[in-house]
Amino acid sequence: MKPNIFIARSVPPEVEAYLGEHCTYTKWEQEEPIPRDKLLASLQEAEGLLISGGKIDAELLEHAPRLRAVSTISVGYNNFDIKAMKARGVIGTNTPDVLNDTVADLIFGLMLAVARRIPEMDRYVKEGNWKRGDDKTLFGLDVHSKKLGIIGMGSIGEAVARRAKFGFNMNIAYHNRNRKPDVETALEAEYLSLQELLQTSDFIVLMTPLTPETKGMIGYEEFKLMKGTAIFINASRGATVDEQAMVRALQEDLIFGAGLDVFEHEPVSPDHPLLHMPNVVTLPHIGSATAQTRLEMAMLAAENLVAALQGNAPSSVVKE
Ligand code: DGY
Repeated sequence: MKPNIFIARSVPPEVEAYLGEHCTYTKWEQEEPIPRDKLLASLQEAEGLLISGGKIDAELLEHAPRLRAVSTISVGYNNFDIKAMKARGVIGTNTPDVLNDTVADLIFGLMLAVARRIPEMDRYVKEGNWKRGDDKTLFGLDVHSKKLGIIGMGSIGEAVARRAKFGFNMNIAYHNRNRKPDVETALEAEYLSLQELLQTSDFIVLMTPLTPETKGMIGYEEFKLMKGTAIFINASRGATVDEQAMVRALQEDLIFGAGLDVFEHEPVSPDHPLLHMPNVVTLPHIGSATAQTRLEMAMLAAENLVAALQGNAPSSVVKE
């Protein structure tokens, strides 16, 4: 008999067709995220759940007595309460690797956008302010040949470092839980303490997953260590940074600017001070958002879910 699953996030037709071959499913029909109460009410019969975001915690598990596997369409899985899932024997899977290059492209876009003030200059032209040749008020900062410090050298960090090294002749530094000798050799990357990295990098890219250890790891003291010309990019999770501290650091001109794909609370409120700073480029958490990559992520998540429910090994099981 086919296992019963709930699809909590709209997926491309080919992914739905694949799931239909292997499972009996019901699904959330709308584009916007499913409200929590509706999700909880949909899980009574579900053995599998395909989701993107949304807490998988003890409360949810109580509403899902038959649940055996949850597959998230994301590499990040900070929405999983792994302890609670393990206690119930529920397998969790995620979608690493297929999004590496797409997210790395976007991070580079943010670095260029902040350094060369691209969104600000776009508004300048469109608002009719370009009345004469350029002058130094329009100047930005170079990206090529500068020092890039990556915090969290996972496979997305490596993809960013490759672009930096081979496309932009940048010097690479990194800080990570453990050293990566292969990356050090291939990219001439220098391992630094967090403090040294913050003090010496021209671009600081935060890529660490959100865990209890990394929550708020970049605060006011960390911004104070950065160069006055530093550009800070966050494409991990908003809560890895103390947002109030970042606002204060930007108000005090402690750094040149910031590029943010993620916020502590998403969608970010239109009143948030970060949205009203010309040197902050903001995006709506679109790191992996291309049609091709989202299709690959959704298909991988679907395959993981089916494998877990059939008692086979999914390609990426979340362990800790
Ligand atoms: C992920 O996969 O975790 C990304 O943040 C989604 O874009």
